[in-house]
Amino acid sequence: MTDAEGGTHTFSDVEEGVSLMELGRRNGVAGIMGDCGGGCACATCHVYVDERWWDKVGAPDDVEFAMLDMVADVMKDTSRLGCQVRMSPQLDGLAVTVAPASG
Ligand code: FES
Repeated sequence: MTDAEGGTHTFSDVEEGVSLMELGRRNGVAGIMGDCGGGCACATCHVYVDERWWDKVGAPDDVEFAMLDMVADVMKDTSRLGCQVRMSPQLDGLAVTVAPASG
């Protein structure tokens, strides 16, 4: 995970089901706030998924997309909310970059 200041973080022993937002917060990743606690209601967990991983991670659903639209100024085609992406063995090695704050 690349943080908002360009630092890189690698996590091992990631338990299945933990979200990217939780991982980021637990490990003090700059730029991951998670203000709403994972409720898909704040977009302070916004990340850009590495394009090589996009097919595995998948696109946001309508609710998540609506929230991402609130930060449209910094949204990209590979945007996801970190609280909505849960780790699984299939995502071992996943690379994401924390998006800059909106506005
Ligand atoms: Fe609020 Fe993800 S933590 S939208």
